[in-house]
Amino acid sequence: MEIVKSKRKGPVLFSKYTRGEGIKKALTLSREDVLYEVRSSKLKGRGGAGFPTATKWMLTAASTGVDKFLVCNADEGEPGTFKDRVLLTEYPELVFDGMVIGGYVIGAKKGIIYLRGEYEYMLKFLEEYLEQMRKDNLLGENILGKKDFSYDIEIRLGAGAYVCGEETALIESLEGHRGESRNRPPYPVNTGYNNRPTSVNNVETLASIPHIIIKGGDWYATHGTDKSTGSKLMSISGDCKKPGVYELPWGTTIKEMLKIVEAEDTKAVQVGGASGICLNASQFDRKLAYEDAATGGSIMIFNKNRNMLHILKNFMEFFVEESCGQCTPCRIGNEKLLEGVEMIERNEYTFDYIKKLKELGVTMQIASKCGLGQSSPNSFITILDNFNDEIFNENRNGVRK
Ligand SMILES: Cc1cc2nc3c(=O)[nH]c(=O)nc-3n(C[C@H](O)[C@H](O)[C@H](O)COP(=O)(O)O)c2cc1C
Ligand code: SF4
Repeated sequence: MEIVKSKRKGPVLFSKYTRGEGIKKALTLSREDVLYEVRSSKLKGRGGAGFPTATKWMLTAASTGVDKFLVCNADEGEPGTFKDRVLLTEYPELVFDGMVIGGYVIGAKKGIIYLRGEYEYMLKFLEEYLEQMRKDNLLGENILGKKDFSYDIEIRLGAGAYVCGEETALIESLEGHRGESRNRPPYPVNTGYNNRPTSVNNVETLASIPHIIIKGGDWYATHGTDKSTGSKLMSISGDCKKPGVYELPWGTTIKEMLKIVEAEDTKAVQVGGASGICLNASQFDRKLAYEDAATGGSIMIFNKNRNMLHILKNFMEFFVEESCGQCTPCRIGNEKLLEGVEMIERNEYTFDYIKKLKELGVTMQIASKCGLGQSSPNSFITILDNFNDEIFNENRNGVRK
């Protein structure tokens, strides 16, 4: 199996941990006490939206319904992110123990990992790992002798659609339907997989849980910033000497990050993948944090030799391809934005029309049905705004009005 190693191990997520340790401790506590630790940690979901994990678990636990599910979102489809893959291959004990602890808190009997189709190569390794957990009674009936807690984990493979990382489309896909997002409400915490209460959590979110249980929520909250506690795994790629997965404290500035990965002559940093924002050099003092430059962990670095319009075209082609087509703002909007990029390329634009396309982008952010269409205009708007001089330079003067 291909192993991708992490480049930098910080003091939070990659601190010392022994398999099963978190489960053992959690099962000596009441469900409420485990939830209390997660709440004190102020952990927010690492899949991108940053929803507080304790609130999601509390809502799922409180929801009426016999069969509840915990789903680990391992779809990892955002362009430029590869940190969940490192967690699953290097630290499966953190992810699986987190799934068991989460299952205990919400009252689930079953956990499901939705594994990105392209990660099929790790399936055998993960299945063997789960088998060993069953032998050690870290999964199965009455886990570690706990009478009212039986729980198992199943792995399901995705089939390569970006939208299936969105939690409701993921649930549709798990149920064997087309991967299309659902209307919300109802939310998965009430009506999720098979219409049962379901908590969908990112791989990294779950991997943080065992440490929080062993070392305490307060310990976790001392790391990072007040609003972004703990650390963040960043998948850093592009024009730098040391690309890879890094555990960085929340609050690290873009400038500091560029120094760590030895990037030179950096022109642009795309924070949050294709659906994120693109920053220019005057913005490199911004902090990687929920309250500033938020990211699910994808960082792409572009040096001065890159063409920003080519980059934008690549992102927009991706969104046109991946839009599920259910709602008009996203289905038509992404095509219009791509057409706009091609018009600029051919020097056949007017500034008036580009302004209208940016307004269309804002409409898409507001009116699209799911996060795909709500976030796909981000790179269009920020690249045109932040790289205005390069894109609309004298050599590309088209029909300017
Ligand atoms: C188009 C799209 C793709 C997404 N892909 C992922 C993904 O690959 N992994 C993930 O954890 N969350 C992804 N999300 C976010 C999920 O909908 C959801 O917020 C997340 O899994 C919740 O887990 P968390 O609270 O631990 O962050 C995606 C959202 C959208 C709109
Ligand atoms: S926003 Fe895009 S991906 Fe989401 S439902 Fe609408 S068309 Fe589908």
